[in-house]
Order: sequence, then C-alpha cells, then structure tokens
Amino acid sequence: MCGIFGYIGPQQALPLLVEGLRRLEYRGYDSTGVAIHDENAIHVHKTVGKVSDLQRILPERVEGNMGIAHTRWATHGGVTQVNTHPHQAHDGSVHLVHNGIIENFRSLRKRLEQQGIECVSETDSEVLVQMMALELANGAEPLEAVQRTVQRLRGTWGLCIMFRDEDLLICARNGSPLIIGQGVDEMFVSSDPHPLTTHTQRVVYLEDGDLAVVRRSGITMHSAQGVSSTPNVTVLEEEWGESDLGDAPHYMYKEIYEQPDALRQCIAGRVDREMGSGRLGGMRLAHDTLVQAPHVRLLGCGTAYYAAEIGQMLIEKMARIPAVTHISSEFRNNDPVINPKALYLAVSQSGETADTISAVKEIKLKGGQIFGVVNVVGSTIARLCEKGVYIHSGPEQSVASTKAFTNMVAALTIFATQLGRTRHLSKDQGRELIEHLQQAPHLMERYFDDVGPITEAVDLLADASSVLYLGRGLSASVAKEGALKLMELAYIPCLAYPAGEMKHGPIALLEEGSPVVVIAPNDHLKAKTLSALHECKARGAKIILIHEAGDDIASEGDVCIPVPAIHPWLTPLLTVLPLQLMAYHTALRLGRDVDRPRNLAKSVTVE
Ligand code: G6P
Repeated sequence: MCGIFGYIGPQQALPLLVEGLRRLEYRGYDSTGVAIHDENAIHVHKTVGKVSDLQRILPERVEGNMGIAHTRWATHGGVTQVNTHPHQAHDGSVHLVHNGIIENFRSLRKRLEQQGIECVSETDSEVLVQMMALELANGAEPLEAVQRTVQRLRGTWGLCIMFRDEDLLICARNGSPLIIGQGVDEMFVSSDPHPLTTHTQRVVYLEDGDLAVVRRSGITMHSAQGVSSTPNVTVLEEEWGESDLGDAPHYMYKEIYEQPDALRQCIAGRVDREMGSGRLGGMRLAHDTLVQAPHVRLLGCGTAYYAAEIGQMLIEKMARIPAVTHISSEFRNNDPVINPKALYLAVSQSGETADTISAVKEIKLKGGQIFGVVNVVGSTIARLCEKGVYIHSGPEQSVASTKAFTNMVAALTIFATQLGRTRHLSKDQGRELIEHLQQAPHLMERYFDDVGPITEAVDLLADASSVLYLGRGLSASVAKEGALKLMELAYIPCLAYPAGEMKHGPIALLEEGSPVVVIAPNDHLKAKTLSALHECKARGAKIILIHEAGDDIASEGDVCIPVPAIHPWLTPLLTVLPLQLMAYHTALRLGRDVDRPRNLAKSVTVE
C-alpha cells in the first residue's frame, strides 16, 4: 500500500524515479509525487491522480542526482495535492515519503503546534518531517534527528528521507517494507523488490527497527537506539519475469492469459510423477512432521483466502486430517490456540499484507510452525516464515489477482498431495492427480483458444443491480473468487453462496432476470448444484453456467460456458478462468479502470 522509490548516484534522478513509480503504481494510485535534489535546492512536483498525470505536469527537465518519490493510497487525509507525498518541513530542510500509519500522530501534531509549527496537510506523515526539522534546528545530525523522531512513534513506517544540506538518504522501517538496491556508485530505494531488478540484483532488506544511511558509496545500518551493524546484502537470484505491459491492453488481461505459463513455473520440479507425490523443497518438511501433524490451518485475505479454502478442502480430501482456513485479520484478535505440531500456512501474493503478517507473528510467538505460500520472493512473509513455497507467478501488477490465485491453488494442491501420500492417498491416486495437474496448463490454453460466450454473459451482468454466484465444495470457493473479481472491478454488488445454502436466504433476492452464475463441474456434487440452478430458474433468474465440456448439462443455463474437463480435485484451475474474463469484460463494458479499481490497492500493508 503506497509505493516508495528513491535514488542517489551519478545519473539524473527524475527518469529513474518516474520509472520506479510506474512499476509501483499498483500499490496505490490516488496521488503521486517526486522531490529532486539539485546542488542548491529541492524541487517538488506532485499531483492528484496517476503517474501518467504526474508526467504531464513535470517540467521538461529537472536536474538532480538524488530524489525520492511516492505513489499514494490515502489513509489519513483526503486525496488532495497537499496531502500527496513527498512532504516537506516548514523550513525546507527535510523532505520525506512515508508508507504506513503513525497511530500517535495527533498528539505529536499537537506538540508541534505548541512549538509553533503548523502542519499544512492532514497526513500523519507530515508530522514526521516537521519533527525531524526541529531536531536538526536543535543541532542534531541527520541520523540523530531520524533516530529521535522514530523513537517517539507508534505505528508502522517505511520512510525515505532526503535532506537539503546533505548528500545522503536515510531509510527507516517498522512494519512497512523497504529495500535498498546497491549499484556501482549508486543506490536505489524501493518498497518492492521488482522495480530494483532492472538496476541491480544486490539488495538489502530492511528489518523492523532498522535505520539505513544511504550514500552513493555505501550503506550503514543502525537501530533507533544507535547500535550500528553491517548491511546484509542478498543477491536476488530469482528471474522475476516480465512486468511490462507489452502489447496487452491491460495488466489484468495479460496476467489472465499468462496463467498457463505461470502454472508451468509453479509445478516445474515440484512433483514426483513416479511416486505420485509433491516435492516442495523450500518447505523442508521432515517425514515425521507430516505424519505427526494433527491438523493444518491456513491464513489469507481476499483472493488468497479463497485459494486457501480450496487448499483446505484438498488437504482434508487427500490427507484426511482436519484443515481450517482463517481470515488473517480475524486470527490474532481471537487469541488462537496454537499447537506446535500443527502446520500453519500463510498464503499471500505480495507477502506484505499486514493482516497476514500479524497472524504469522502471532503463530511464531506461540511456538507454531508456519510456512509461507507466497509469490514475491524475499517479501516480509517469506522472510518471517523462513520455510515455504514460492508460487512463481511472476509479477502481478493488476490489483485484481488472477495468476496468483491459480498458482496458490496449484502450490496447495502439491502440498496436499505430499501430505496425503504420507497418510491416506495411494500411489495410484497421487499419480493420477499429478498427471492431471501437469496437463492443467495445456487445458488452460485450450480454454483460451475458445473462451465461449463471455460476451453474452457480460450482456446479463453489466446491467445487473446484483449478482449471485453459486457452487458446491471446491466450486463454492471458486464462486467466492468470481464474485470478488466482479465486485472489485465492476462495482456490482455480488453475493457468493454454497449452492445448498441458497434456499436459506439469497433466494429471496431473485426476481425475473436476476443473473445467477452457477459453477457446476462434473464432480460428485454436480447433481445437487443443478437442483439449486433449477430453483433459481423457477424464479425467473438468468443462469450463466460454468461447466465441463462433454458433460450432460450444456443446455441447463441461459449462457453456458464450457471449460475443458479435468480431475475433479483440480477443477478450480479451469472454472475460475471464465469468471476472471467475465469480470474483466464487464468492467470494460462499464468503462471502469480495470487495473486500478477505485479504493483498492494491490498490497494492503496497513491493518
Ligand atoms: C488486497 C487485494 C486483493 C488480494 C488481497 C490479499 O485486498 O486487493 O486482490 O487478494 O489484498 O493480498 P495478498 O498479497 O496477501 O495475496
């Protein structure tokens, strides 16, 4: 949530900052700004809107070899120019960009007012820059000024700070990710690793409590209390994939169609066809750990939560041990009981979702074994968990998650197979499943060759005042994911229900012409799902049916979209595809900004 980029070195800073912001825009996009340091002064340019709006107002040339930049997702204070980062001190001595939330900013602001400093914005972030300027005015060195300021803060921060009279940047982290990229005689700062990879593979991940003084020649690490340490340089080994739009009309479109290749990346080298099992090396699962685990608990938010639900069902099916999925934001609040022998899985595309991070910390604190199921390599959750599986989707830039969903499901399927093979899943069952999983990318491609009557489905959805999504078993979670996609992108209220529960409430909503999306793959629940479909039809609903090619229900819907047939435990990998396309095309029909839906952000780093 909110993106930070910074640069110090021999190159002109502005083009690097703008490019960095462009790559970070998915983290927040209601306003954006840059501050560039030339020899004599700091020049600030900011605007409400997107990076492209900023580019429009930038002067032809802004000289300067050091700068900081920010793209905002508003938390404190409305979306206005004055609330846009970078913020500057009243005397111009300090400029900063901030991600996170300062919980005690009101009392800090009052204290500033008593000292005669009036903040011009409504943000919590400006308070910090004013406090630092006061420290400098009282004779503190830049590092001291930052140390003294952060010591008085409660909340979360990722800070990149620039001083008018110094040739350095200072970064600070507590709860909001920040990474420094080390070049030759130049340094880059970013809230995400991927904008750094075009410049350098050598990075330093800041940990909570770290302060870093960043000069062209090197980085020195300190704590808020003044203890110094050597920076821990990591070499990014992972090939992070293509993050540019290329010829695609939108990131979401590109990412939907990347799913077959992304899935291949996720599966490659992680399945043992001979043994009918999974081989997730990064989870470092000892045989005893798998055999003794009394249960599995999975955590996630949004799309990750729905993928986790599917994982939960597969674990129970294959391993026959209890599995439960939790919404991360609820987990810690409920003072959960943690069993040290149980397996906990934190599922997250970004690896930076604050709610999931706090759940991970709770589990670790209480002695639980937690594994990450994460996309972004080196992200906070991946590092906190230490063990886990990278889902290898490559960069996902569209706010609405697509290829991360299918890869989360695939990674959890492999995990369930591995767990299952130590218990109830036979070698033959395992082999059959693995064979089908390896076929899945190809079947996805086959679906994309002929996506079916998506346009007719959009005709029904685009004018709807609400849409009901129904499915059973694994498809109940696919229904939830489909509803989330349409709601996020088209702003149409959507309700997803297990099909059997429909008659206990949602049926009251149905009237002549109400669209109902039914997901009914050819599994043992199909007949029961069809009963719900008929109950909806009888009340005048228009049915959009997602089903498997070659089954016997192709005429049951008003619009029928077939997907290629697959093993009944793997159907979510295919049934979700038309739901993603329906959401994408409905949003376009309604003139929505598909990649930047209102009020949302890709990675939600505040609780
Ligand atoms: C936000 C995004 C969702 C995403 C969720 C969890 O709400 O808008 O698309 O599913 O966060 O994100 P994560 O990075 O933890 O998977």
